[in-house]
Amino acid sequence: MTDETSLELPPLYESLTWLTPISEERAGHLVAFLSDPAPAEVLDMGCGWGELLLRVLTSAPQARGRGVDSAPASIDRARQQALTRGLLNRATFDAMPGAETQARPADAVICIGASQIWGPPVEDAQPLDYGAALRALRALVLPGGRLVYGEAIWSATPHPAATAPLAGRDDEYLSADALREQIRAAGFEVVDDDLASVQEWDVFEAGYRDRFTRWLEAHDAHHPAAGQVRRQYEDQRAAYEEGYRGVLGMAYFCLRG
Ligand SMILES: C[S@@+](CC[C@H](N)C(=O)[O-])C[C@H]1O[C@@H](n2cnc3c(N)ncnc32)[C@H](O)[C@@H]1O
Repeated sequence: MTDETSLELPPLYESLTWLTPISEERAGHLVAFLSDPAPAEVLDMGCGWGELLLRVLTSAPQARGRGVDSAPASIDRARQQALTRGLLNRATFDAMPGAETQARPADAVICIGASQIWGPPVEDAQPLDYGAALRALRALVLPGGRLVYGEAIWSATPHPAATAPLAGRDDEYLSADALREQIRAAGFEVVDDDLASVQEWDVFEAGYRDRFTRWLEAHDAHHPAAGQVRRQYEDQRAAYEEGYRGVLGMAYFCLRG
């Protein structure tokens, strides 16, 4: 029997550019929204390995950036990428829970897939507290500043096969329309919004599963953990393809504070 915690899978950044379903075209649109006109400060809450923040800093050469994420390995990767791109003098990355940052408000803010910073951890299988996240973000965006807010939503009515591999409940997410209402109630103006396409999701999910494939390619077929990794791959594939594909969505909002 192999202990799951002792299994070291290749890091997700080896297979994915982003920790969210997003095409290069959409990323370019979000970078343009945040960097034109050029901001002075960019804050990314739940930045992962900081790809979007680093692209905004490349696009806005006078701007300074701060990324916060609770995963130390992602923050290490973000710092390394900042160094490689010559941005370390303008970017700082902090490994810590986002709610403890006491971050200074900024004129450009990013929060993609990280509303749980201000609500229950996703492992608790509770509904996302979008309202708490939006209120906290409102305080982090300077008046007239911009926010790119991306969050999971139901893009179709949830059904049991879709919810089973997630939290098993229909109220885990809102629809995009209901989320837009909460965004406006928090005091933001919606400049534009859009949903990730199924193609963006397919690329993301394939990249997510790729770490299992890479592990299997790097290890002997008789390795004691091989069966477990094959099962994890198959569970993830089935959860998506036979479950939440086309039901779990991702909404991207370009907002003004
Ligand atoms: C879905 S990923 C999105 C990452 C990144 N924003 C992107 O779009 O590529 C969510 C990120 O939130 C981070 N996160 C989760 N809970 C957090 C918390 N309490 N404080 C800070 N970061 C957190 C995770 O480590 C993860 O990197």
